Amino acid sequence: MQISPSHVIHLLFIAAGIVALVLVASPRNMPPSLNGAIYGDETLPIDARVNDLLVHMTLEEKIGQMALVEKNSVHELDDVATYGLGAILSGAGGKPENNTPEGWRAMIGQFTNASRSSRIGIPILYGVDANHGNGNVPDATIFPHALGLGATRDPELVEHIARATAEESLATGAQWNFSPSLDLPTDIRWGRIYEAFSDDPELAGELGAAYIRGLQEFTPAVAAAAKHYIGAGSMAWQTSSNKDFFIDQGITPPDEKTLRDAYLPPFQRAIEANALSIMTGLNAWGDTKVSASRYLLTDVLKNELHFNGFVVSDWYGIYEIAPGTYDSTVTAINAGVDMVMLPYDYVQFISDVKKAVGRGAISESRIDDAARRILRAKFALGLFDADDAAVDLSVIGSELHRALAREAVGKSLVLLKNDDSILPLSIHSKKIRIAGSAADNIGMQSGAWTVEWQGVDGNWLPGATSILAGIRQATGPDAIVQYDKDGTFAEKDIADIGIAIVGEKPYAEGWGDAANPTLSADDMAAIKRLRASTRHLIVILISGRPLIITDDISNWDALVASWLPGSEGEGVADALFGNVPFGGKLPMYWPRSIKQLPFDWTDSSASARPLFPRGFGLTTESLKNPKSNR
Ligand code: BGC
Repeated sequence: MQISPSHVIHLLFIAAGIVALVLVASPRNMPPSLNGAIYGDETLPIDARVNDLLVHMTLEEKIGQMALVEKNSVHELDDVATYGLGAILSGAGGKPENNTPEGWRAMIGQFTNASRSSRIGIPILYGVDANHGNGNVPDATIFPHALGLGATRDPELVEHIARATAEESLATGAQWNFSPSLDLPTDIRWGRIYEAFSDDPELAGELGAAYIRGLQEFTPAVAAAAKHYIGAGSMAWQTSSNKDFFIDQGITPPDEKTLRDAYLPPFQRAIEANALSIMTGLNAWGDTKVSASRYLLTDVLKNELHFNGFVVSDWYGIYEIAPGTYDSTVTAINAGVDMVMLPYDYVQFISDVKKAVGRGAISESRIDDAARRILRAKFALGLFDADDAAVDLSVIGSELHRALAREAVGKSLVLLKNDDSILPLSIHSKKIRIAGSAADNIGMQSGAWTVEWQGVDGNWLPGATSILAGIRQATGPDAIVQYDKDGTFAEKDIADIGIAIVGEKPYAEGWGDAANPTLSADDMAAIKRLRASTRHLIVILISGRPLIITDDISNWDALVASWLPGSEGEGVADALFGNVPFGGKLPMYWPRSIKQLPFDWTDSSASARPLFPRGFGLTTESLKNPKSNR
């Protein structure tokens, strides 16, 4: 047949039409149809569901999954679906206006529903710092902070505590806990020591794995975020990238042997326990921020240790990599960060990543890998299959959990000195005088990350018991218990027993960095007054770390390191009065002087001798046979 010019023009039009159609229908311009999608099928294996979901997602939807946004910076609820945000967190103290279990459920429920309403309907993960129980909620059970759990050396107990914490978090709707901390502190001047179990890699790894099992190996599960990968705890004094801090967010010496011998093994344990996520530290390793290190995140963590979960960056961390947001983002994602914590600006983040993929600065396969890791965790948690069954809010602060916390307190106490076996006390001790800033202050005994980032002051947590109240409950009717915070008592007699309950005010992160961690002048004065009006003086330290007390300890008859015991003050009284034996062992070295810092536990010279070695702790017998009858 003859082809006329008009035929050619006609054919050209048809061809152009086909090309245009193909372009419009290509995945870049039109979301793939969800017809035939099978990722909703609960009976399929997780990998099949993830593969199917990825095929049906646009690039934008995958990038959205990589965003973890602080709830206070979500501009509009609709943004959750519009940007397909992957996760939302409550930064410390990021509570709902109505800070009750119901208030939390309503807040998280709103975000979850918003995420489900997106085209692809991927539920968000909601993350909280429930690092000593779900302390975000005033009614919650506050367990001892991790260092106290380290003193128990009891993985089974730690697993139970993680489970109870998971239950109290799930009741509020949170399915992700930014815990456990696997940091190994070497310098007591750091403000985050109490968040760690121990300075011993073996113990930190063992308890960390137990904690992860407690969170994850139950249905419904809570995802763990083992942190802070890596080298956190060995940053050098005055190297912080934050001008207000000294150690926190500082520089870990670039010594690969120590990193591998000490800091890596706990993370290896976390991976063996199937931790669904690992959080990068805000520290630098040598001159590279950890979030920028492809070597540490991809080569070591993912390739060498075969970590299959997702890597999440901490707070504003990635933006400390380079001057601009774009360069920082490209470096962090190419290094191996899968999800980025965004306290402020998710729109910028999403646009930076899109731009980078468009320019080929981040490959699509890197985005696929990140999204795959995140989605795998979401499927593993059952988020896609969750039904909205009624939730039992009564687990929050339940009697059962409080009993567990009380048990943990008793086991976490480390008896460092016990002259003349003064402890345990008889419940019939005639007159007991109590003084000190931490005796009657539940906020102080709970430490930071309790309702507020920096903790709270005073006795207003419902259902909690101060140490003073615990002692009053434990003593017999014939005992007289007198209390004055400053140690000033009107009567001029000498009482049998003085108990000074003294310690540190709550602090979190770099705000707790301190040049010389020791007791305050007020507490020292209270101890002095109490000493003058009592025959035997017992000092109970409430602190987030060992304190420098070398010059004072000889004036005290007994000394108990009680760490940050949490809401159940009776646990302290249990050991004081022999209901349970003292059996806790120091989870870390207790230095003699700040001149020994950072503490080098491999140095055996005399000048490096600690005041007490790791593992030290005197024991007593339990109530059935109280030795002392004072
Ligand atoms: C801390 C993390 C914590 C995160 C979220 C950061 O400031 O370093 O440990 O999980 O905030 O609250």
